[in-house]
Order: sequence, then structure tokens, then C-alpha cells
Amino acid sequence: MSNTVLGCIGCGNMGGAIMRGLAGAEGVTLAGFNRSMARVEALREEIDLEVFSDALSLAERADIIILGVKPDQICDVIEAIRPALNADKVLVSIAAGVTLGAMRNAADGLAPVVRVMPNTPAMVGRGIYGVCLDDPALPAKAAQTVQDLFSSIGKVVVLPEEKFEAFTAVAGCGPAYVFHMIEAVIEAAVTVGFTRQDATDMVKELFSGSCALAEQTNMHPSLLREMVTSPAGTTIAGINHLDRTAVRGHIIDAVLAAYEKGKAMRR
Ligand SMILES: NC(=O)c1ccc[n+]([C@@H]2O[C@H](COP(=O)([O-])OP(=O)(O)OC[C@H]3O[C@@H](n4cnc5c(N)ncnc54)[C@H](OP(=O)(O)O)[C@@H]3O)[C@@H](O)[C@H]2O)c1
Repeated sequence: MSNTVLGCIGCGNMGGAIMRGLAGAEGVTLAGFNRSMARVEALREEIDLEVFSDALSLAERADIIILGVKPDQICDVIEAIRPALNADKVLVSIAAGVTLGAMRNAADGLAPVVRVMPNTPAMVGRGIYGVCLDDPALPAKAAQTVQDLFSSIGKVVVLPEEKFEAFTAVAGCGPAYVFHMIEAVIEAAVTVGFTRQDATDMVKELFSGSCALAEQTNMHPSLLREMVTSPAGTTIAGINHLDRTAVRGHIIDAVLAAYEKGKAMRR
């Protein structure tokens, strides 16, 4: 990753999180442009960042250009920076649903394109990044640099483009499912008499501790659940209720609904 200039157009929640994560990476110079300058100026207060006042100047300076804008803005932004594009630059979109083909068309084939699907734990350095390196115009060295950059700030899963909606339905949308479950257990804890603050603290620790247990023991979740489920005990009574009401099936259906919606939104 020596002497790479990494620029981000659209330094919002996700673009900003990626830039914060990469701050201090060896051999990487960071550059940013955002529609509202206040947002990118605020980012410069936090990290070492070259700030640009327009997208084209940033694109002229950067080797790798992350497009952190909303999906409906991606192609307009690519068209705006087209005069700066060439085969040595790489365009990286983090937008849901915008295909490599749509990006390549917008770029008129002038620069190789990459798709990355992050998730919100990127904001605390724990993101999972689905990365698609399928563009035949992408040089092997650039593909490696992109992988190295995202591996340095989270877990990278390299995927063919046809798997992107599946990855999005599981890992991109996934934090919302988890927070939904966290909320439900907090409500249950309040119902059985804990203060909202105590319930929230306790349940956050419950989820993070359980994930740490799964990670550190590397045991299958079924075995970890069995460890808590003693004969004729309290936990099996709770688990039986979850099974009678098909909670597992509903969670599977939720992921499938997101998957179908993602496929319908592909552009
Ligand atoms: N949030 C997620 O969970 C998530 C997960 C995976 C992927 N993504 C993808 O990440 C992308 C960004 O999402 P986000 O949640 O980070 O949104 P966000 O916080 O609204 O960030 C978008 C940023 O782009 C800026 N912007 C808009 N148009 C621009 C333009 N023409 N030139 C330069 N900057 C422009 C906005 O500036 P202003 O401040 O002026 O509005 C804003 O700061 C989306 O494509 C989304 O699909 C998000």
C-alpha cells in the first residue's frame, strides 16, 4: 500500500467511518470531499486529511476513489469526475444495489471499478466488508491494495457480484436485526422489573459477552445454547416458547425478504 492516495467523495456516516479507520495507515494519504463542507471539515479536525472543495480535484489527486454517496448519486458523481479517470485509478462504490456494469457505463470504461458492501460496525472498527473484484479491467496489484486497505479495518469477504444481495441481506442489514433483538430483550428486562438503564447496560453486555464466547471458544452456537439449557430448567422453557412461535423461521424469512428486496432494487 505504499504511497497510495485514497480519496472519499461523500464523507457521511459510512465514508467517514472508513476514513477514520484508515487514518494512520502506513503509506496512505487520505483526501476528502463532501457536498456540505462542514462535514468534511469536521472530519479533518479528527484525522489527517487533505480536504478538496470539489469532486473533480479530489479525483485528480486520488489513486483510489471511494464513493460514499447514496446509491442514486453514484452515477452522477462518476460522470462529474470522468475527466480525471484513467486506467491507473480505481473507483470503489459502497452503495447498495449499484452494479459494476452501471458504474463502468458511467465511467465510460476509463477506470476499473470495485464494489464494497460495509456494515455499520465499521464505525467502531468492527465492520465486515463484502468486496467484489470482478471487473476484468482491475489490475491484480490494485485488487490486492483494495483488499489490504479494507482488511486493515475489518473482516473482508471477497465475493462474486451475484452474491452481493445475499451478503447485503445478511451482513449489511444484519446490525438492524441484532439491534431489534437487543431492543426486545431490553423490553423484557424492563417488564420483569429492571430500570431501563440497568436493562440496557445488562443486555448490551449479554450480547457482546455471548459473541465473545462464541468467538473465543469457536464452539458451534448449538453447543453453546445446550450449555445453558439444563433438563427441566428455566432456559428450556424459554427456548421451547421460541420454537413453538417459530422465531427461527421468522428470522430466516426476514433475511430472505431483505434478499428479495435487494435483488429487486439492483440497477
Ligand atoms: N448506513 C449503512 O448501514 C450502509 C451500509 C452499507 C452501505 N451503505 C452505503 O453507504 C453509502 C452512504 O450511506 P451513509 O449511510 O453513509 O449516508 P450519509 O451519512 O448520508 O452520507 C452520504 C454523504 O454523501 C454526501 N453527498 C451527497 N451527495 C454528494 C455529492 N454529490 N458529492 C459529495 N458528497 C455528497 C452527503 O453530504 P451532505 O452532508 O451534504 O448530505 C453525506 O455526507 C450509501 O450508498 C449506502 O448505500 C450504507
